[in-house]
Amino acid sequence: MEGLKRYHDMTKAELICELQRLQQPIVESTSPMGITCWVNILFIGGGKGCREFLKLLHSYTPRHITVNILGVADPLPDAPGRKYAEEIGIPTSSDYLDFLYDDRLDLIIELTNQEKILDTIFEKKLHKTRVMDHMGALFLWEVISLKESHDELHRSLEDTVACLGATTETRDPYTAGHQQRVDRLACAIALELGLEQQQILGLHFAAVLHDIGKIALPAMYLSKPTALSSEERAIIKCHAEVGFDILKKIRFPWPVAEIVYQHHELLDGQGYPRGLTEKDILLEAKILTVADVFEAMSADRPYRPSLGVDIALEEIRAGKGVRYHAESVDACVVLITEKQFNYN
Ligand SMILES: [Fe+2]
Ligand SMILES: [Fe+2]
Repeated sequence: MEGLKRYHDMTKAELICELQRLQQPIVESTSPMGITCWVNILFIGGGKGCREFLKLLHSYTPRHITVNILGVADPLPDAPGRKYAEEIGIPTSSDYLDFLYDDRLDLIIELTNQEKILDTIFEKKLHKTRVMDHMGALFLWEVISLKESHDELHRSLEDTVACLGATTETRDPYTAGHQQRVDRLACAIALELGLEQQQILGLHFAAVLHDIGKIALPAMYLSKPTALSSEERAIIKCHAEVGFDILKKIRFPWPVAEIVYQHHELLDGQGYPRGLTEKDILLEAKILTVADVFEAMSADRPYRPSLGVDIALEEIRAGKGVRYHAESVDACVVLITEKQFNYN
């Protein structure tokens, strides 16, 4: 049986490799989430295994995948899987050849030990058709379902975080959109620096929430149209620590609370609240600081209009390697001056 290795003979590692191969698109259409739609399946073998599998598919079909069972083939009309298929309106036949040449066929789930059948499939060189046995198919289904739950959880997390971020801005309408803009710039800098996607994701959540601590501060200081006194500034500075206190209760898989805690720290130790120095500041926080300073200076503030892009660039360039992370400054300058970065 050249070219066909049965799934139950494979080690777990081999099965995973095979799965990755199978996850390549086998049909043109993909779901909105980019998962291949397994549209047309043929069951060869209509015994109890087939019946259980059909029941499982019926109750467990992942939402974003369209499954069309082309048919169930078994020479015995009374085979339980074949009978169940008939009950739920799936075409059946005694001869698998009735379905085998259907152009739509994408996947065969093979539930029989008759190796002759598999030989025929390969003799006919149905290159596009994938053949899996029960175990392989279940394993694949499990992985696809897990991916879908993961994507759904991720979307809920995005929505929750966006909602929290927006709540902060209802207290501070003059800086509406600030956190989103900082988020976009910070993530663009991180991409320029070649950070891993997972690390950028953590930075993204921290950026969207970085000023959340302002929620606990008196609104009159946040939107004060004149410069703040030193006492008022000291109060405003508490927002980094308050933000940390709020976020540390959420079990993010990234150090989101700590990044937020550090977003006003400077390499030379002159930042706040803890006066950390370069070696103790997380890379994500260093990037966030550059994006935050640039956005804050180039946007309007309650007590002053925008200082303009040139002044903002001058500030980060002047502090490069002293107050601000040098590579992040370079990346930010390139994005603004050469790559036409825009917050949208
Ligand atoms: Fe801040
Ligand atoms: Fe900020």
